[in-house]
Amino acid sequence: MIHVAITGAAGQIGYSLLFRLASGEVFGPHTQVKLHLLELPDSMKAAEGTAMELEDCAFPTLAGVECFDQAEAAFSGVNWALLVGSKPRGPGMERSDLIRANAPIFVRQGKALARAASDVRIVVVGNPCNTNALIAQHHCQEVPATRFSAMTMLDENRGKALLAKKIGVPVADVHNLVIWGNHSPTMYPDFENALVGGKPAETVCGNRPWLESQYLAQVQQRGAEIIQARGKSSAASAASACIDHIRRFSQPTPTGEMFSAAVPSNGEHYGIPKGLIFSFPLRTLANGTYEIVPNIPISAYAREKLQKTTDELLKEREIVKDQLL
Ligand code: NAD
Ligand code: LMR
Repeated sequence: MIHVAITGAAGQIGYSLLFRLASGEVFGPHTQVKLHLLELPDSMKAAEGTAMELEDCAFPTLAGVECFDQAEAAFSGVNWALLVGSKPRGPGMERSDLIRANAPIFVRQGKALARAASDVRIVVVGNPCNTNALIAQHHCQEVPATRFSAMTMLDENRGKALLAKKIGVPVADVHNLVIWGNHSPTMYPDFENALVGGKPAETVCGNRPWLESQYLAQVQQRGAEIIQARGKSSAASAASACIDHIRRFSQPTPTGEMFSAAVPSNGEHYGIPKGLIFSFPLRTLANGTYEIVPNIPISAYAREKLQKTTDELLKEREIVKDQLL
């Protein structure tokens, strides 16, 4: 039996995510899943309505759904804690504009996790997700830091889809499109190391100026583009990326492949300061742990991008330093 807590369960991402977690597509058809839905007291009714709908799906893999308005109770004994609940940005805002409003949520939930769960993996989706993960991890020293991650899988998926569309190949042909750094406009979608049909993406695309300008900007700004179009931030694609993220961490990564997620830097790879929650190329190993893929070639062009996103994360850390005491 796998216990999964989802915060912000009555929000828009929650509404897409819960049904897929319950359906068996993530943990397999032979694993029972119990969902712990955490919401603010004012949204409990909505969470309970979603819980009724989950039951009404009669998923054979869903062992139960419980709603909570207290974090510690919701996190009790969970194997996965998906920290989604927080304010989303609106049109014209950057994700970093949410930093002061959302940071206290992750202080409280980090502390609650420390008291309530031990064999747990924590995925931070709520923005700004890298720095929120840094805060939660800081307040949850009882759980190994490597159990914390923040989601950049949506950026990887966007980067793959856009490249595939431009080149005119199926998206499944695009591999190893690593997102480096922050889930923000400074992220670096690494087209230099991506493969299309087993060949370097840059060669197949044959248009470096497009990759450096439109491609980079569109991946970096896709979240804002969605908000502009929908009036609300991405939800179904974010939930889908969260499903991909959990799967990638749950299954050994096929030989020669890698995926993106923001995890604590151990200070040993690519010159990224220790402790920052930074999106790296990762591989899940047979024993269930992951490694940061070493020795990916970093050009002078890429080095400059990595520095920019590192500087931004250092700045965000400085802004929340009073939440890290
Ligand atoms: P939403 O406003 O629809 O839902 C958020 C829910 O969280 C609400 O129901 C609210 O009541 C609840 N909530 C707020 N504080 C809470 C708390 N302390 N405990 C429990 N629940 C709480 O927002 P959404 O569209 O679902 O987005 C949620 C977050 O995910 C936002 O911060 C958004 O920016 C972020 N996001 C991240 C990514 C990513 O790729 N990392 C992608 C999309 C959205
Ligand atoms: C996204 O990338 O779609 C999310 O982080 C939501 C946002 O604010 O852009």
